[in-house]
Amino acid sequence: MKIQVLGSSAGGGLPQFNCNCNNCKAYREGSTTVKRRTQSSITISEDGENWVLFNASPDILEQIHNSPFLHPTKLRETKIKAIVFIDGQIDHTTGLLMLREGCPHEVYCTKEVNEELNTSFPLFKMLKHWDGGGTNYHEIVPNNTQFSIPVMPNYEFYAHPLISNAPPYSKYRDKPRAGDNIGVVVVNKKTGKRLFYLPGLGVLEDHIIEEMAKADVLLIEGTLWTNDEMIKGNFSKKLGTEMGHIPLNGENGLIKVLDSLEKPRKILIHINNTNPILDESTKEYKELISHGIEVSYDGMSIEI
Ligand code: MLT
Ligand code: MN
Ligand code: ZN
Repeated sequence: MKIQVLGSSAGGGLPQFNCNCNNCKAYREGSTTVKRRTQSSITISEDGENWVLFNASPDILEQIHNSPFLHPTKLRETKIKAIVFIDGQIDHTTGLLMLREGCPHEVYCTKEVNEELNTSFPLFKMLKHWDGGGTNYHEIVPNNTQFSIPVMPNYEFYAHPLISNAPPYSKYRDKPRAGDNIGVVVVNKKTGKRLFYLPGLGVLEDHIIEEMAKADVLLIEGTLWTNDEMIKGNFSKKLGTEMGHIPLNGENGLIKVLDSLEKPRKILIHINNTNPILDESTKEYKELISHGIEVSYDGMSIEI
């Protein structure tokens, strides 16, 4: 399986248009230790020709432009043959509007996300008005039920419900349902190699830790370093866990659990621009890598 990180940051990207935090400022000033990052998305492929997109970020046009394997080779063509949405958040879905000339798109999501994308953020409804008729919806059942995607015939997909949060515009905000957020396991039927992609994780439940332990590659939540990072920095009044993002550091942080897992390669994704690990000169970055944890970056290639 080929895995390409298209966007490694959380909502806003780095630099974020209205942000002058240490990282955004350092990037604008030409720092060599802070990278530009677009918003959260990966794409995977079995044959290197046909790609399954996980989330459609607001930065998708730039991401496609920077990824020659996604460029059309016929007169009109998209190499993105299926799109999986792990939630209905702006940073994971808005890019679908930018792909409107390529309708219909084969979209895979839970019925909860399908509802959101037809009501509070009605992208699916809007796209019906374009040539090709919008989207073809394939329901994902978020209880470890297997699903398949035709362009990756030798792979099995499984969705796991994650406790995180519903989008700010959802009537389920702060009372999320199973299915508002999922993590997806992709397994090679022949080799058994497993990817577990879970960019939005609010609570470390035992069944998720068990699944993490079985993975060969984890592409996992890296939004915040500390739970009160947004409050302390005067960026927001919310804790990470209130937004559905468990922090990396601390007694109840993700690093501690990652330390207990031997098998997987541990790679962070969906990293907020305020997170000190995004500057490679910080003590937090050095601490992170001393645990054998990697920070993904736009354009990163992984093969399993
Ligand atoms: C999140 O990850 O919590 C959301 O993307 C936040 C947002 O859309 O601003
Ligand atoms: Mn997000
Ligand atoms: Zn910033």
